[in-house]
This record gives sequence, structure tokens and C-alpha cells, in this order.
Amino acid sequence: MLAAYKGAASSSGPTMFETLQKATLDKIFVLMAEYAADPRTNKIDLGVGVYKDPQNNTPIMSAVKKAEQRILDTAKTKTYKGVVGNKEFSQAIVDLALAGTVDASRIRCVNGAGGTGALMILMFVLGRARPTGRIFISDPTWPNHIPLAENANLSVNYYPYFDAKTRSVDFDGMMKVVDTLTSDDVLLLHGCCHNPTGANLTPAQWDRVVESLKCTGAFPLVDLAYLGFGDGVDEDAYGVRKVASSLPECMIAFSASKNFGLYRERAGVAIAIAKDSAAADIVSSQMQNIIRGTISQTPDHGAEVVRLILEDKELRAEWAAELKDMRERMKRLRVKLAEAIKRKSNSKDFDFIAEHSGMFSLLGLPADAVQRLKTDDGVYMINDSRINVAGIPEDRVDELADYLIAAAG
Ligand code: LMR
Repeated sequence: MLAAYKGAASSSGPTMFETLQKATLDKIFVLMAEYAADPRTNKIDLGVGVYKDPQNNTPIMSAVKKAEQRILDTAKTKTYKGVVGNKEFSQAIVDLALAGTVDASRIRCVNGAGGTGALMILMFVLGRARPTGRIFISDPTWPNHIPLAENANLSVNYYPYFDAKTRSVDFDGMMKVVDTLTSDDVLLLHGCCHNPTGANLTPAQWDRVVESLKCTGAFPLVDLAYLGFGDGVDEDAYGVRKVASSLPECMIAFSASKNFGLYRERAGVAIAIAKDSAAADIVSSQMQNIIRGTISQTPDHGAEVVRLILEDKELRAEWAAELKDMRERMKRLRVKLAEAIKRKSNSKDFDFIAEHSGMFSLLGLPADAVQRLKTDDGVYMINDSRINVAGIPEDRVDELADYLIAAAG
């Protein structure tokens, strides 16, 4: 009866929603909302990983603006592209990331809704290949890796990654676990610019990881969300190229969120490399089946922007120069903060900030100090003490150094 929906539910059991528990929200986006709601004008945002310019804005890159204008001027349709998405975008990303190091007949791609969407597709495929199989994730890692893996029915395991004393990679600890993996296991690797630590594998360490994978047969999944934010596109791609060119199979989740500043447009590519073309076709069909059964088609605006930029000589050069500026600014901010802390505290304890690379550093502050920095000083960072170095206010580095020295006690 129509009147019923206005009143109480008619059945005696709990309503549909009453059977639900409150779910955990991702701490990065909880913090972003807290920062936005903080009325203090002198607050400092070192939280969510988005690039900031000197005015504390996350700008639209000028190459992106120009590509968007071209789309506005010339696009004639918004009809479906098909389940694999924008193939030319995928190809441009494969060329950028792998630079011809793998035979094209073994590579298949689909677009993802951002790097996270790409990870989702790839992990779902892995969950189908190895139901309840183990995935090994760096400890610590980007918090979203865990629900992504769990949603794909993979069982989450960890390998040590970070030495809290030296603030660098605990490579011996990592390899003690990596060397014991089996051909049923997945190893999730951060392609560059490790999130949250900022400590990265050297080329020689990548070589050693690949030797281990050759011996054990474990399957590498590379999360490539910050290509170009570390030392340069080719330098940052060392590890992913080594993995892709040395092993029979791997997967790569590429994100254009940071290096093209396209965050909300959700542009990413899920790349699968198989031992031969026939195996690649099978994995492609799996990826397409997952897209169709979840979101049907991926968003195209950001994908088309990136395609236009990478295929056009001038736009590409402009983008590369902007990316270089962003990278160099983050490096400069690292050095400035590390130097200010050293000068003021007479200690080298924070020198690692200048030695790390990419967007993040894990400071190693206790959670209560992180909380006090937020409530007392208006300095926001993730509760594990991860900072986004792009958020360091260049004109207030000394002030920030004072806050951090006090927090470190
Ligand atoms: C971050 O780690 O802060 C970014 O990658 C944003 C996100 O999606 O978590």
C-alpha cells in the first residue's frame, strides 16, 4: 500500500540499512575534509597527495588546459568508446612507461578510472586467477591497497619495507620475505616515489628483486602512480622497465592523476603483460569482463587529454617542462625544510627529508605528536606522520621547522 512507506517498516525484522555497520573511511580523505573545515587561515596542508603551487593551489597544468580547449573545439560525439576505453591513450602510456622494452604482442591494456580503477581491475583479475591467493604488500603502504586487495578476495600479507631508524629501505628485511614467495603469490611493488615513505629502491635493488622473482615465479604487480615525480620519467621508470622486460608476466597500474594533475578526471591504464599473444588475449578478455560488470565503460575526458598531450610534440614538451618544474620544486622544498631543521635543532635527524624522493616522506613522529601539530599548530599530516612535501609553504619553512622540532621532542 502506498501509505506504508511514510510510516514504520511493516516487517518485524531490521530494515535493510539497519543490518549495516558503519564502514571505515580512508584516513587520507577524512583528513582532507577536516582540513577544509578548519577555519584557521594559517593552517598548513601536508595531507592528501596532491601537488601544490607556491600559492597553495593545485593548478590545472597549462598543457592540460590547451588539450581541453582542443577537445571542446573539435569533439563531435560523446558516444561510447568501447569497454577497453581510449586505446590511443593506453598506447601512449605504454610507450611513456615502457619505452619499447617489451614486445607489443604480449601487452594488453584497458583504461581504468584513475590509477585506483586500474588497480581494481588488475587485482580482480588476479583474484580470479588465484582465488584467496596471497598478495604481499609493503609495510607500510598506501592505505587503499588493502581494501582493493580484499575486495578482490586476495589475502593480504606484508613484507618489511622501511627501516624506521635510518628512514631508508629495509632491503634485507624486504628480501627475506620476497625470496620466500611462491609462483602462486603476487608481489605489489611501488614503481617509484614510494607512498608513504619516500624511500625508494636503487636500480641495483630492483635488479635483485627481479632476480628473486625469476627464481620464485612470484607475480609482480607494479603501482605506477607518480612517474616523473622522483628524478625524471626515464629515471623513475627503471624498476618497471626492468620488471616488464625481464619476466614472462606482470601487471602495471598507471595513474595520470599526479603527473598530469588530472585527479578528479580519473585517468589511468591497467597494463597486463603475458608470456605470449594468446595468453595476453585471455587476460584482456578478463579485464574487459570486469569493467563491463562493474562500471561498464571508463571515463574518457582525462584519457583524451593525456592522449592529445603525448601525441602532440609541442604539448608534450610543455607538459614535460611543467612536470620538471613540479619535480624540482618538490626537491627544493625538501632541501629547504631539512636545512631549516638542521640549522635550528643542530641535528641531522631530519636530513632524510632531502634524501627521499617523490611526493612524500614519513617523518617518524608518534601519533599524539601528529595530533598536537594539527590541533595546536594547524599543521595537517596523515596520522602515520606522512607529509606531502608539495604542501610545504616555501615562505614559512622556518615556522614549520619549529613546529616539527617541537613535535619530535
Ligand atoms: C594520497 O596518497 O594522498 C593520494 O594518492 C590520494 C589518494 O587517493 O589517496
